Amino acid sequence: MAAPLICPSILASDFARLGEEVRALEAAGADWIHIDVMDGHFVPNITLGPDIVKALRPHTRLPFDVHLMVAPVDPWLEAYREAGADLLTVHPESGPHVHRTLGRIRQLGAKAGLVFNPGTPLSILEEVVDLVDLVLIMSVNPGFGGQKFIDGSLRKIERARAILDRAGSPAHLQVDGGVTSANAGACVGAGADALVAGSFVFKGDYAANIAALKSAPNA
Ligand code: DX5
Ligand code: ZN
Repeated sequence: MAAPLICPSILASDFARLGEEVRALEAAGADWIHIDVMDGHFVPNITLGPDIVKALRPHTRLPFDVHLMVAPVDPWLEAYREAGADLLTVHPESGPHVHRTLGRIRQLGAKAGLVFNPGTPLSILEEVVDLVDLVLIMSVNPGFGGQKFIDGSLRKIERARAILDRAGSPAHLQVDGGVTSANAGACVGAGADALVAGSFVFKGDYAANIAALKSAPNA
């Protein structure tokens, strides 16, 4: 099994030194930079707007993986794409026409991601599987870093993997929330190929933590 892509979430970084933090993540072996955008409405927290993403863009060549926890999301797609997002991931609850939203993301030249909260059924994926470049399984309820991984998420990763494989989709399967070296291997074993991690990466040595996630044995 290939090593997973590691996508550190800058939600857990020092916001007073964001540029430096992004450069440190690249030097530490991160594959993508995961950027959590929260609007204080779709989720009970507020993070950062497109101007901050734009300001970070010159600090790294790594892809910007932008997780939009914003509703309605459609009016913001273009701004984050112009700010430098390579992937734009949306929740099906964040607009009335998810099929149109995913199509619009690709039209803007970005990769389109669809994210499933712990309580959101995967059945939606069957309807739009040809429109997604990434499926993200939330293993916590979104809004905050540092929460505990919900164990039932492993089964959901397996089910998402089965849907993608059945459709012959090359989309990435990503996991987000409470990911550590203790459960990373199980996520990969269940079919994930990209792992988001915030608090685990930023506690201590970034390079060692990223390496530990990449090489965690499958459980
Ligand atoms: C939660 C965010 C996650 C979060 C992960 O709403 O989408 O990306 O930052 O942080 P940890 O790894 O600390 O759970
Ligand atoms: Zn996220």
